Amino acid sequence: MVFNEKIWEEIHSTRGWSRYPNEELVRFIGSNFFKLPREERKKIKILELGIGQGANVWFLMREGFDIYGIDISKSAVKKTFERLKEEDLFIKSLESHFKVADIMNIPFENEMFDIVIDIATTWNVTYTDHNKVYKEINRVLKKKGLFFSWHILKGSYGDDGINYIDKDTKENVEEGPLSNTGINYFAQYKDLINLLEINGLRIKGKETLERTYENMQKSLKFAIIIGKK
Ligand SMILES: C[S@@+](CC[C@H](N)C(=O)[O-])C[C@H]1O[C@@H](n2cnc3c(N)ncnc32)[C@H](O)[C@@H]1O
Repeated sequence: MVFNEKIWEEIHSTRGWSRYPNEELVRFIGSNFFKLPREERKKIKILELGIGQGANVWFLMREGFDIYGIDISKSAVKKTFERLKEEDLFIKSLESHFKVADIMNIPFENEMFDIVIDIATTWNVTYTDHNKVYKEINRVLKKKGLFFSWHILKGSYGDDGINYIDKDTKENVEEGPLSNTGINYFAQYKDLINLLEINGLRIKGKETLERTYENMQKSLKFAIIIGKK
């Protein structure tokens, strides 16, 4: 994944990224886990794939969960630590929770996590590589563990329907919010479901959301999927 690594390191070393968590993630965590007292939340291990500059990590840590994360960019991990330090959430022992790594080789043990979250990260690998990533997610999830995914869909801004490098996969789209972010797999909903199911994740929830741009001329469409091992 040298290509993705180079592009994302360039992005994270030269500019800021989201500071606040994905709203659908907040909804998912809120409706399923906010009823738990903080003592119980500490026992829930959550892995974020592609932490960016720590927006979701910051939220999950403030809410008292046991958070782990990986990102292919070393500047992303560094900036996540800086954010946690700024807000007095960083402790030295956290260093072993966050690693610079590729989602196709998750550097954590089998059946370690209660929840794995993917906010706009797995869509940065091709359709074909989704099989490897979903296999890895299954491997690190505990039995009955949950997978929360926010994934871009076919027909979104930047998906012009030509020059695919793999099924529905483009490289460096030229316009829109996803431009110059390396590989983008614009998934068909049925393919995403199929990829999850063949890798041992049962579908517990599936929704969509659409956000328009340029006075409603263009849009990004998202799948919000909850899978269960
Ligand atoms: C669109 S950003 C989302 C970041 C974060 N999840 C958020 O919601 O702010 C995608 C992130 O995935 C990381 N990434 C891209 N490809 C990756 C890969 N193959 N393995 C691990 N991380 C990857 C990027 O460095 C980037 O931080």
